[in-house]
Amino acid sequence: MSDIILGIESSCDDTSAAVISDGWLLSNVIASQDVHRAFGGVVPELASRAHEQNIVPVVSEALSRAGVQARDLTAIAFTRGPGLLGSLLVGTSFAKAMGLALDIPIVMVNHLQGHVLAGFVKEKDQPVVQPSFPYLCLLVSGGNSQIVRVDSPLDFTILGQTIDDAVGEAFDKCSKMMGLGYPGGPIIDRLAKQGDSRRFKFAKPHIPGLDYSFSGIKTSLLYFVRDELAKDPAFMEKNKEDICASFQKTLIDILMDKLIKAVGQTGIKEVAIGGGVSANSGLRSRITEEGRKRGWKTYLPAFKFTTDNAAMIAIAGYYHYLAGERTPLDVAPVSRMADF
Ligand code: KG4
Repeated sequence: MSDIILGIESSCDDTSAAVISDGWLLSNVIASQDVHRAFGGVVPELASRAHEQNIVPVVSEALSRAGVQARDLTAIAFTRGPGLLGSLLVGTSFAKAMGLALDIPIVMVNHLQGHVLAGFVKEKDQPVVQPSFPYLCLLVSGGNSQIVRVDSPLDFTILGQTIDDAVGEAFDKCSKMMGLGYPGGPIIDRLAKQGDSRRFKFAKPHIPGLDYSFSGIKTSLLYFVRDELAKDPAFMEKNKEDICASFQKTLIDILMDKLIKAVGQTGIKEVAIGGGVSANSGLRSRITEEGRKRGWKTYLPAFKFTTDNAAMIAIAGYYHYLAGERTPLDVAPVSRMADF
């Protein structure tokens, strides 16, 4: 008999439900929340309310697209954290109630583990291309920037991580600072394609080991834009493509320097990326190019699995389920999770 897992993701501003059967994707439904756009960032209280409105229709739609009845489910996987507490509470409570009503187990998942394992979701009519263990994953999102060594689907070691801002935060905050809009990553990515990445220089941090820092480059950009605007109020408008291209290149250089170092230190040449920023076209081509040059095997997730989605939670939950893990009903969501 197949193991059919319903995944539920509600850690930030996307309400998502997905169904997988023995690791094969049957459906993946995502309701994004436009309500935050006007505020230039996610408003936690509004996110929780939108999750409450979305969760029932999103789960129903995921089951219906999968052609699966609730009674066919084997287990429910849900994001326990990290994320916004109110948002997580909606998904966690829903998973508990549904698990209780159907008398099936629930399995908690660390959201970051979901991002790392997103590439393991198998899809009909798509080639199955998965890294072999051990591999390194550059996990880059709005809340995290880490280099993770993955020895098995449940065995993760963080080799390096940001000591301040995440790289996605740098994209988002700097986009806001430049008046370009929210979320900043996709906007900067689009403008960067039309710009000259060698035109401007931004300071790179000098952090020991495999850790990252992205707060300095934010300040560097802030002062640069402020000084140039004082000389020419139209500077931003005239140069935004080149600024975005140069800024994005600096962020990618910072990410790649440490990733190259991590491969050198571990000798592991299977390299994957995951998280929202792994949608960045500059990062995707750079990692492919470096991989080709250095003899790495590189793995890029499909675009639809880069940002928050429940398919990645379902696949991570599936591995936990196979390992015999079951989550008690008194579990509470957590906004921070120190480790995997
Ligand atoms: O993984 P994710 O959806 O949420 C977290 O778990 O944090 O990542 C969201 C982040 C945002 O910072 C967003 O700006 C960034 O991913 N992002 C991108 C791109 N698409 C999304 N950053 C750079 N280039 C993109 N194309």
